[in-house]
Amino acid sequence: MFITLEGPEGSGKTSQMAPLADFLRQLGNSVVTLREPGGSDIGEQIRGVIMELNNTAMNPRTEILLFLASRAQFVAEIVRPTLNAGQWVLCDRYADSTLAYQGYGHQVDLDILRRLLDFATGGLTPDLTLLLDIETNAGLSRKRKAGGEWNRLDAYPPEFHQRVRQGYLELARNEPQRWVVIDASQPLEMVQSAMRQAILARVQA
Ligand code: TYD
Repeated sequence: MFITLEGPEGSGKTSQMAPLADFLRQLGNSVVTLREPGGSDIGEQIRGVIMELNNTAMNPRTEILLFLASRAQFVAEIVRPTLNAGQWVLCDRYADSTLAYQGYGHQVDLDILRRLLDFATGGLTPDLTLLLDIETNAGLSRKRKAGGEWNRLDAYPPEFHQRVRQGYLELARNEPQRWVVIDASQPLEMVQSAMRQAILARVQA
């Protein structure tokens, strides 16, 4: 089972990963939590270039190809072998982040992106994607308060983040059999419980 967590800035995905994985393990599954570049040395080097705050001149096309380069390595070296070993993969962001950020955010043609994504991942699609949805200002101010890493992409204007959020909601509407939308403005425990229910519903279906 391949499950991905998606959401705009400050949606709280990352803090939900560990408790969710523990819950799935208690059900008897072997679960690996991942986040691109996921320990791939080559992917790590590529990510450094993408996130570097000084790289202000980066062309959106360059950004896309770097994300995809990192993901191709991640899928081949980490995700596929893990799934092939019969383990569950719970992944913090995946291909839908590219559609939301580069497609809706930077307004790059979605069909082109889908073809590039297909090439990079060899067509590996999640079985289930949980969208932690939060209103843009609430998410960004939550992220600022948390005081963590503030990367080059967080510094894009509010309209960019607004398009990302709406893009995610549209992706979820277009593929309801794969996506479940969760209200991430709720207290963390309620978000966690909604995520667990969504997975149980899918597994038992
Ligand atoms: P990260 O620090 O991992 O953010 P978060 O904690 O919000 O997941 O940084 C990832 C940033 O990169 C985030 O702003 C989303 C963006 N991103 C893309 O623009 N395209 C992509 O394909 C991926 C995977 C991430």
